[in-house]
Amino acid sequence: MWNPEQYERFKAERKQPFVDLMALVEPRPRMRVVDLGCGTGELTRELHEHLGAEETLGVDNSETMLLKAGKFGGEMLHFEEGDIEAFVSERPFDLVFSNAALQWVPEHEKLLARLTSFLTPHGQIAIQMPNNDSHVSHSTAAAVAAEMGVEPRLDFLLPLARYAELLHKLGFKRQHVRQQIYGHLLDDTRAVIEWVKGTLLTDYERRLEPAQFAQFMQRYTDRLLAALGEHAPYFYTYKRVLLWGTF
Ligand SMILES: C[S@@+](CC[C@H](N)C(=O)[O-])C[C@H]1O[C@@H](n2cnc3c(N)ncnc32)[C@H](O)[C@@H]1O
Repeated sequence: MWNPEQYERFKAERKQPFVDLMALVEPRPRMRVVDLGCGTGELTRELHEHLGAEETLGVDNSETMLLKAGKFGGEMLHFEEGDIEAFVSERPFDLVFSNAALQWVPEHEKLLARLTSFLTPHGQIAIQMPNNDSHVSHSTAAAVAAEMGVEPRLDFLLPLARYAELLHKLGFKRQHVRQQIYGHLLDDTRAVIEWVKGTLLTDYERRLEPAQFAQFMQRYTDRLLAALGEHAPYFYTYKRVLLWGTF
């Protein structure tokens, strides 16, 4: 269950990858933009204003996240509730943008092909996805889930070079594919738990009964603190993949 307040506890830290992704986009006149998995819409608005876009559409399947989006909307900035997997549009876009959402959508080869089909002949694609499953913060959640007989939540990312091959195959003449480590100096180790509660653990919260989720959290906390030790501050590393291409 996405909770905007929990997600926004690390707003400043989470913003940098968005800024880096936006910097890859080449502003062109009168762009028509779609932001898939737009969340609260605050960054969608920033993107819309930065590009001076003609029209921007934000799509998200979380009602709670979108409830906040209303206040960021405007005449040419709209929000729509829906699944990325089911999204279709009658008119093409000059930019398909997605920040920190597609890691949870399966079958990236098909997905990228579908997103590419939404583009105009000179369109751009720009995607940022967390790739942190190998960090103890994520592997501990998967291990506790498996122990409790719950399907672990893993990202659907492909090997990095595969994205470069895919963009090439899909006809992008210029491309940029990179992985970047974002280092976050958190107050202490326990802050890692608050961080993942805002993202990865929302999925376990959605799938488990409240009592079962409380048990999950207890085991997760004990295991994580034992593995990482109690430090203040704690330097949390977060791997992310950034993709960009244009025809
Ligand atoms: C980590 S948040 C990122 C929000 C925003 N892009 C940002 O950078 O602040 C991920 C968002 O993707 C949305 N999301 C995840 N899977 C989705 C799907 N299959 N279809 C539509 N939205 C999805 C979630 O509801 C959530 O708001």
